[in-house]
Amino acid sequence: MISRRTKIVATLGPASSSPEVVEKLILAGLNVARLNFSHGTPDEHKARARMVREIAAKHGRFVALLGDLQGPKIRIAKFADKRIELKEGDSFRFSVTHPRDAGTQDVVGIDYPDLIKDCRVGDELLLDDGRVVMRVESTTADELHCVVLTGGPLSDHKGINRRGGGLTAPALTAKDKADIKLAAEMELDYLAVSFPRDAADMELARRLRDEAGCTAWLVAKIERAEAVADDDTLNGLIRASDAVMVARGDLGVEIGDAELVGIQKKIIKYARVQNKAVITATQMMESMITNSMPTRAEVSDVANAVLDYTDAVMLSAESAAGSYPIEAVEAMARVCLGAERNPISRKSMHRLGEQFTRCDESIALATMYTANHFPGIKAIISLTESGYSPLIMSRIRSSVPIFAFTPHRETQARVALFRGVETIPFDPANLPSEKVSQAAVDELLKRGVVQQGDWVILTKGDSYHTIGGTNTMKILHVGEPLA
Ligand code: G6P
Ligand code: MG
Repeated sequence: MISRRTKIVATLGPASSSPEVVEKLILAGLNVARLNFSHGTPDEHKARARMVREIAAKHGRFVALLGDLQGPKIRIAKFADKRIELKEGDSFRFSVTHPRDAGTQDVVGIDYPDLIKDCRVGDELLLDDGRVVMRVESTTADELHCVVLTGGPLSDHKGINRRGGGLTAPALTAKDKADIKLAAEMELDYLAVSFPRDAADMELARRLRDEAGCTAWLVAKIERAEAVADDDTLNGLIRASDAVMVARGDLGVEIGDAELVGIQKKIIKYARVQNKAVITATQMMESMITNSMPTRAEVSDVANAVLDYTDAVMLSAESAAGSYPIEAVEAMARVCLGAERNPISRKSMHRLGEQFTRCDESIALATMYTANHFPGIKAIISLTESGYSPLIMSRIRSSVPIFAFTPHRETQARVALFRGVETIPFDPANLPSEKVSQAAVDELLKRGVVQQGDWVILTKGDSYHTIGGTNTMKILHVGEPLA
C-alpha cells in the first residue's frame, strides 16, 4: 500500500462549496481545506468548515482547516467604470482624497495614506501582481504622481506592491483581529498570518490568538522582501511561527521572479531545520482554472516542491474559483506520488553532523535514522499528544510511513499537514501499560499496513499525557508477543 506523503491544501470558494464537490475533493485526497478570509462572510466560512468536518468524518478521513487572514494588502479603490486601460508613458495618480468609487483614466483613490509617506521618487509600484508597473515621479501631501512603465488593464481593488518591498503596513488589521476571534469560534486547526515582516509580527498574532482562546497553529506567510532580506530575519520569523507558507504570489512580485526558486528552496530547508511544517503555495496549477489538465511546467513545479521536501502543496483559485477543482486535486496527488518515487525523496542527509537540542527530538531523529537504514521497518508508531513528535520525525526524508497515534481530535487534524504522517485515533491511557504496544501494532495489522514478520518502531514517553515527554524508542517484531 503506497500512500502519498506530500499533503494537499486546497482553497474552498464558490467552485467548491457544495457538499458534492467537497466530498469529491476529500475523496481525491484533500488534506487541508483553506478558508480565505479575504473573501466571503463569517457565515459562509462556518458553513464550509462544518461541511468539511462532517463529510471527512463520514469517510473516516482527517482533514485540517486552515483560515487565512487577509492582512494589510494595500489596494486601490474603485473606478467609475470598473476598469481602465493604461499605456506606457501615461501619467497616473494615487490619491487619499479622491472619491473612493470614482477612479478615472488619470487618478484612483487609496485607503492607505502611509503609501504616500513610504514612497520616494524613483520607486517602482507593481499593480495587480506586477501586470502594470509605474514609477513615482513626484509626491504631494496626499498624492503620488506616477508614469506608467508597463501598461495594461487596471480594475477595482487591485493590489499594490513596491519593488524591493518596504511598505510599512502593520501585519494585523482590525478585520484580522475580528477574524482571529472567528477562528477561535470555529476551532480552526491552522491560522495563516499574511505579510508578517519579522518575528515581532508573529508574536503579536500569537498574543491575539491566545487572548481569543484560539488554539490554531500559526502559519507565517513569507511574502515580503523584508522577510527574506537576510537569514536572521527569516529564521527569526520561522522560529516565531508553528508552520510557514512560501506565499509565492506577493513574494515573487516584491523580489522578482528570478529570485523566487532559490528563496523557495531556502525557506523549505530552514523551516525543516527548525522542526516546522511548510506549505508551498500560489499558481502551482494555475492553468487548471480553465483547463482540465496541467501544463508540463506546472507538473514540474509541483514535483520540484516535492523534491525540495515541502510538507504540502497548495491550490488557490484552481480549487476556489476554477472549472476543475477535483481534477486539480487529482493531478496534484498524482504528481506528488510520482515525485516521491524519486530516490531524492527517500534518502535523508538532513541535519547529519548537527547537534540536537531536546530529548524528544533526539528520539524522533534516531527513529528516522533507524527506519531509513533497517530495511525491515514498515511503519513508525508515534504515541503523541500534540503531534510534535511526528512533526520532528517528518522533517526527515523517508519512505516509511509515520503514524500519529493520538486520542485528540485537534491533533488528528493537525498532523494532516505533515509530510508522511497519517493519524490513527488511539488512547493508551485506557489500556494496561503492558498491552499498549500490542494494541498499537494491532491497529496497523487491522489496516493492512504491516504483516507478520515486519518490523515497526514505536515511540512514547513514561507518562501517557506529557507533551514533549517522548523518551523511548522500541523496535518491535510483528508477530512476536509484544510488551
Ligand atoms: C503520548 C504518549 C506519551 C508521550 C506524548 C508525547 O501522550 O503516550 O508517552 O510523552 O504522547 O507527546 P508529543 O505531543 O510531545 O508528541
Ligand atoms: Mg499573498
